[in-house]
Amino acid sequence: MDYKYLIVEKKPHGILLLTLNREKSLNALNSEMLKELHKFFARVEDDVRCIIVTGAGKAFVAGADIGEMANFSASEAYDFAKLGMDTFMEIERCRVPVIAAVNGFALGGGCEISIACDIRLASTKAKFGQPEVGLGITPGFGGTQRLSRTIGPGYAKELIYTAETIDAKKALEIGLVNSVYEPDELIDKAIEMAEKIARNAPKAVEYSKQSIVNGSQTDIDTAMQIEKTHFGLCFATNDQKEGMKAFLNKGKTEFKGK
Ligand code: CAA
Repeated sequence: MDYKYLIVEKKPHGILLLTLNREKSLNALNSEMLKELHKFFARVEDDVRCIIVTGAGKAFVAGADIGEMANFSASEAYDFAKLGMDTFMEIERCRVPVIAAVNGFALGGGCEISIACDIRLASTKAKFGQPEVGLGITPGFGGTQRLSRTIGPGYAKELIYTAETIDAKKALEIGLVNSVYEPDELIDKAIEMAEKIARNAPKAVEYSKQSIVNGSQTDIDTAMQIEKTHFGLCFATNDQKEGMKAFLNKGKTEFKGK
């Protein structure tokens, strides 16, 4: 599939490196790019085990496209927010883990796309923030909801109300990112993590993701039900049988994803 704004590279072990590529506008998200992203995440092929998302040039994503939004009516703005939210839901619900390799500015919609990903790794050059209220708008691609769920309401409210930008060190301190690396190490470190994920049983990783994502959005009893169901489903896979047999025989197994 050919994309205008996305570069998709296949790496070994079922890993995809997805580069958001609208470099002149610091990868700002316009409708066309969001539609491409939606299409990409809705059609992840069976052999894919992990996806890494990064940005071309000096930015990860500098937000939603301000030029496109500037003259929106209220109903056009609503539709744009819906497109962004639906797109980021595809990322959150993607069958495989998605790692954000945040190489630079992750502002507004850029911070929001990173928190729709499962894990965030940052370069020392990364900068995070929700500058929307400084433009006279609220976050609109899920930021008011996902940021609280990721770093807790205290820091989420501080970032959103002050519109301040924070560096990678502060992002690490408040739990917005898992690790910080030198810029030239970032992608290698993301691939290293993706390879660790790809070595494990794909169905078990998928069911774990579904339990975490769906469970975190419901009450504890329903969440435990979700986990029980997925735990049970693992025992209908060949990988569970092979994985446990290999452990008991002190051997190793290559998981097949079945
Ligand atoms: N939308 C459209 N264009 C953008 C953009 C954005 N969000 N961010 C940067 N650009 C464009 C600039 O207009 C500029 O274009 P020209 O060369 O044609 O002038 C180009 O990218 C380079 O940007 P700068 O010259 O500003 O680069 P800089 O290094 O001086 O500053 C920056 C970098 C601090 C990130 C600055 O570009 C900036 O503040 N960008 C806007 C960040 C922002 O407010 N994002 C939130 C958007 S609202 C949102 O995302 C809502 C939502 O939740 C749905």
